Amino acid sequence: MTLKPRLSDDEVINSDVAKSATIPSKYYTDPELYKLAQERIFARSWQYATETDRLKVPGQVISWTMGEGGLNEPLMLTRDNDDKLRCLSNVCTHRGALLVESDCHLKQIRCRYHGRRFSLDGQFQSAPGFEDVCNFPAPSDNLPSVPTEQFDKFIFASLHPAFSFEDLIGDMNKRVGFLPLKQSQFSAKDSRDYVVNANWALYCDNYLEGLHVPYVHPSLTQLLDTKNYTTEIQPLSILQVGGAANPCDAFDLPEEHPDYGKSIAAYYYFLFPNMMWNFYPWGLSINLVLPMAIDKTRIKFITYIWDESRMAQYSPTDIDKTEREDEQVVELVQKGVRSRLYDRGRYSKHWEDGVHHFHSLLLKYLSLE
Ligand code: FES
Ligand SMILES: [Fe+2]
Repeated sequence: MTLKPRLSDDEVINSDVAKSATIPSKYYTDPELYKLAQERIFARSWQYATETDRLKVPGQVISWTMGEGGLNEPLMLTRDNDDKLRCLSNVCTHRGALLVESDCHLKQIRCRYHGRRFSLDGQFQSAPGFEDVCNFPAPSDNLPSVPTEQFDKFIFASLHPAFSFEDLIGDMNKRVGFLPLKQSQFSAKDSRDYVVNANWALYCDNYLEGLHVPYVHPSLTQLLDTKNYTTEIQPLSILQVGGAANPCDAFDLPEEHPDYGKSIAAYYYFLFPNMMWNFYPWGLSINLVLPMAIDKTRIKFITYIWDESRMAQYSPTDIDKTEREDEQVVELVQKGVRSRLYDRGRYSKHWEDGVHHFHSLLLKYLSLE
């Protein structure tokens, strides 16, 4: 049998996109690499948690599983009695019971297994039956706290951040910070989950290039101004700017904006490793790429609207169709990369520099001890 032709044993891709081969297919199929990505990439990156509208007043508590299906880290977000937002471990420091199972309003957190209590900032308060225990309570009896950051009203957390939040969102903030994000309202009818039978990184690869658009989404091609479609590579993010074919669909950019004078219909931000923040004149669509298994990924679409009157071009049925077209092709790739006869390809210099950058980041963070 002819096995996969290997271009080279060197798995580090070339920093020049025109000279580089794509990453070997084992990055999408090897269970060990999948596990390594959870610890070295997902546990060390910033993940979107929720928005401040859900934690308006002291006492509000939200349970949140970071990386549902993958990392599966049980956390909770609280607004404590000093009005401070916190992200805490949702695991009791006694014998590990989950503390909070749904959104609630509390004065303190009480474990329902043996009654241990914590304040909303995670400090141990009391534990019935522990009267004669030595060196108790110790700092390890408090709930571990997880770093959080905010982009406008949107809250992110990271278990062990390998890079700063500012480095992740700095450029995005400069370009879209002028939008009325605070006034945006969550739209349940425009938000949904999809499940794709493919590796999480394949879904990201597909998002990061426009080369497939005329083939996979022929109906979209008429709407997009492909001449005005650009990609900008930032250290930890990749921006695709969609030009407006019709000036009525463009953002009203303020004079001091770096893109003032251009006709822009959308800013598509990919934030490493697994988030897409798509900004339109009417609102924002966040897509979270959540690995559930090596070949199964949940895509969470979360939509916020600030100007319904500008949604004329937006059609939920078109969005759904585009998503199904992407999913189908990504699932085909998942079957293809398992082949014994395929290992690596090449990048289009013009269209796939975003994919190349994403792969460089994958390799960099996977090899970080
Ligand atoms: S596990 Fe929480 S008090 Fe025992
Ligand atoms: Fe697509």
